[in-house]
Amino acid sequence: MKLVPTPKTHPALQMLQWILDPLNYMEKIRKQHGEVFRAKLSSMDVVMVSDPNLVQYILTNDRGIFSAPGEANNIFLPLLGDYSVILLDGEAHRKRRQLLMPPFHGDKIKSYGDSIVSISDRTMGSIPQDKPFVARKAMQRISLAVIMETVFGIAQGEQYDILKHHICSMLDTFEVPATAAVLFFTSLQKDLGPWSPWGKFIRSRKIVDDIIYREIAARRANPDNTSTDILSLLVSATDPEGNPLTDKELRDELMTLLFAGHETTATAMSWALYWTHRYPEVKEKIRAELESSGDNPTPLEITRLPYLSAVCQETLRIHPVAMLTFPRVVMEPVNLGGYDLSPGTAVMGSIYLTHHDEKIYSQHDQFQPERFLNKQYSAYEFIPFGGGSRRCIGEALAWYELKLVLAYVVSNYELSLVHEDEEKPVRRGLTLGPSRGVKMQFHGKRVRANTISEPALISG
Ligand code: HEM
Repeated sequence: MKLVPTPKTHPALQMLQWILDPLNYMEKIRKQHGEVFRAKLSSMDVVMVSDPNLVQYILTNDRGIFSAPGEANNIFLPLLGDYSVILLDGEAHRKRRQLLMPPFHGDKIKSYGDSIVSISDRTMGSIPQDKPFVARKAMQRISLAVIMETVFGIAQGEQYDILKHHICSMLDTFEVPATAAVLFFTSLQKDLGPWSPWGKFIRSRKIVDDIIYREIAARRANPDNTSTDILSLLVSATDPEGNPLTDKELRDELMTLLFAGHETTATAMSWALYWTHRYPEVKEKIRAELESSGDNPTPLEITRLPYLSAVCQETLRIHPVAMLTFPRVVMEPVNLGGYDLSPGTAVMGSIYLTHHDEKIYSQHDQFQPERFLNKQYSAYEFIPFGGGSRRCIGEALAWYELKLVLAYVVSNYELSLVHEDEEKPVRRGLTLGPSRGVKMQFHGKRVRANTISEPALISG
């Protein structure tokens, strides 16, 4: 029996390295041990896999030889609640996805195009132009507003401001590695008053919950068939047996969509702004492509532009935002890449390592959007949204938002990066974000005939 290679470093030290410097941790072990190795992530001992064929084998068999148990994602429980799709498994998980997925289908998402552009317009227009701004903060404002409008159906106003404030406060708890540790170690989850990280978190969570429950009650009291937001669709949705979601289930799913969709998309958008301004020729090529696409391109036409799409793909390739897939667990003895795994072993696809495999992506540490124009990568060589039974539900919304916001900003604003040196990818909670948040400087607004703007899109 051939055992999976295990690093010699003490498990406690590995855990610390994983929390503080996850990329170095994964890269070093791969260099030493190859595409399959054992890793110590928080309290979990997992086999990490980066070979695309093996990742494909795991993800396409994760309702058989492997499972995708919700229990393995318990780290999210305090944030999302135990009825979240991420915490469910087996049949309950499959049924919940069936219920959640229709509102996220590509066709439905298209109707949000005008809202996304108008939110970008509003947000970018409200930033003072006489001093530098942090792109990640601006992108967070955009992605939060998009989720609030598309998922919750809540647009600007008092409710919106309160919700925004407390959601940001909850997320701030996990912003830096030191306080993110509270997620990994349940013993740190203690309410030591309103100023302690956990105390602050649970107070904000209570306020957010109250608002969500009020919104759910309002939709139940006044069902509106014309509403297109995802909450309205979910309130009236039923499973094949005709059962609707309970208030608690709805609350947990809204929280899930908010947390899975807000930070991730904002981070991707700030990386996209970083690369397009680090290499101005990339920005110019996007502008040229937009200019040659007619006077009033519609959101749908914009999202189909090949070069813009390649820039967004390369952004998620080089900085995949989610470093890993969720864990899958071995259900029956299996041989994976020559190693025998026994039932109960947790395995995870390392999205980051696959995207940085020199055999698949030559000059893997270089930003080269053209590679996506010149070659078709398989669904397991390029896996920013995972795969199998837990493949990202919000993928269509994320692509749509990333492309539209990037096209909007690039075609409407002259911006530059404040720092000349590289922006390093670092842990931001459970995602991989830019170390300084991408600091940018305004150099005025571009005035052009077919600049992407709200009126142009409405008339389109
Ligand atoms: C750039 C943005 C995003 C990235 C990179 C991303 C990435 C991922 C990844 C890697 C997974 C795990 C897949 C697996 O284990 O195979 C996932 C799951 C998930 N994502 Fe996303 N995501 C993004 C945006 C969104 C958005 C916008 C939403 C919804 C509004 C969303 C909702 C979810 C949900 C609910 C799951 C869990 C699915 C399940 O457990 O069945 N994500 N995402």
